[in-house]
Amino acid sequence: MNPWPLWAVCSLGGIICAVRFPAFLLQRLPSWLSRRLLALRASRFNFELKRATLRRYGVSFARHPLRATKYLLVDPEVDNFTYEIANEDELIDFVAMGVGRPRAVIEGYVQEVRTDPELNGMLRRQLRRRLDRKHKPHFGRRLGWYAIARALKPAVIVETGIHDGLGSVLLLRALHTNALEGKEGRLLSFDVNPKAGWLVDERVDVRWHPVFESTFLALEDALEGLEVGMIVHDSEHTYECEHFELMTAVSRAAPTLALVSDNAHATSSLRDVCGALGIQYRFFQERPRRHFYPGAGIGLGILQQELLAALAESIKTEPESIKTERESIETERVPR
Ligand SMILES: C[S@@+](CC[C@H](N)C(=O)[O-])C[C@H]1O[C@@H](n2cnc3c(N)ncnc32)[C@H](O)[C@@H]1O
Repeated sequence: MNPWPLWAVCSLGGIICAVRFPAFLLQRLPSWLSRRLLALRASRFNFELKRATLRRYGVSFARHPLRATKYLLVDPEVDNFTYEIANEDELIDFVAMGVGRPRAVIEGYVQEVRTDPELNGMLRRQLRRRLDRKHKPHFGRRLGWYAIARALKPAVIVETGIHDGLGSVLLLRALHTNALEGKEGRLLSFDVNPKAGWLVDERVDVRWHPVFESTFLALEDALEGLEVGMIVHDSEHTYECEHFELMTAVSRAAPTLALVSDNAHATSSLRDVCGALGIQYRFFQERPRRHFYPGAGIGLGILQQELLAALAESIKTEPESIKTERESIETERVPR
């Protein structure tokens, strides 16, 4: 029997239900079904919001008819867009320079993700259960986070902003592989939304410590007594929030601390923190592939306590003649 007519009828029925279903009928449905219909209405069939989103990013139907129509009709994402990036090679260079490791090593880490059937299989299975999400994981710039975590093997990673948990899953996979190489670690993830992180299987991933509270309220206490080796800021994208989170991590820094901002295209917060600490700041601008979103940027700074201490010591004793030379070299300094 040809399945397509049935599929078409079901899809059309789904669309009509999701867009038109009256609230009083929704309440009478089993909760799993009403949840699904509400989710569909909030994403895939939220045409008003999608049109507003296209307008916000300057995508008109006249100039980009295919792209705009495809997004309006097919794409389920209305925020936190996922996509592949066209300049992955630049991302690899950026991480290699930032952490001071050969390019081939970083490329190898990225390949680990691409060729990991367990990780990709688990994510596809989870995503397929949601009609309001893409069914294939698109890691995009998060591959950079993974590579940094693999290169530096931090014992404590902090991630602010979980959303579905795509970044969390990837960071946990880095910790899992680090552990196989003898370096244990854990991930503390923060989000104000208690439903965030549904992609992570908490029963399996004992390295995950989610905190469902605002970082303004919870971060300082949660990090008490810990030495943070990596922080990824991806929560409230304001200068103040980013600055607060980064400086809290700095106050609990392990001997090496990777400061990562997923908001570096929008604020100068990490650049300012790096400037205040006297460490080099690097920036990567992603180019989304086949997506209207103009792309976000990753900022990266590596704080190394030993280097800072040595520098402070040498500054105390250095003669005036080399002070000027040091100051000009400092801006070019690459952490090892
Ligand atoms: C851009 S999304 C995070 C994306 C996620 N890192 C990923 O890999 O897909 C931002 C998230 O930050 C959360 N958030 C916003 N303000 C916050 C705050 N002050 N503290 C903790 N989480 C916050 C939001 O609920 C949202 O889920």
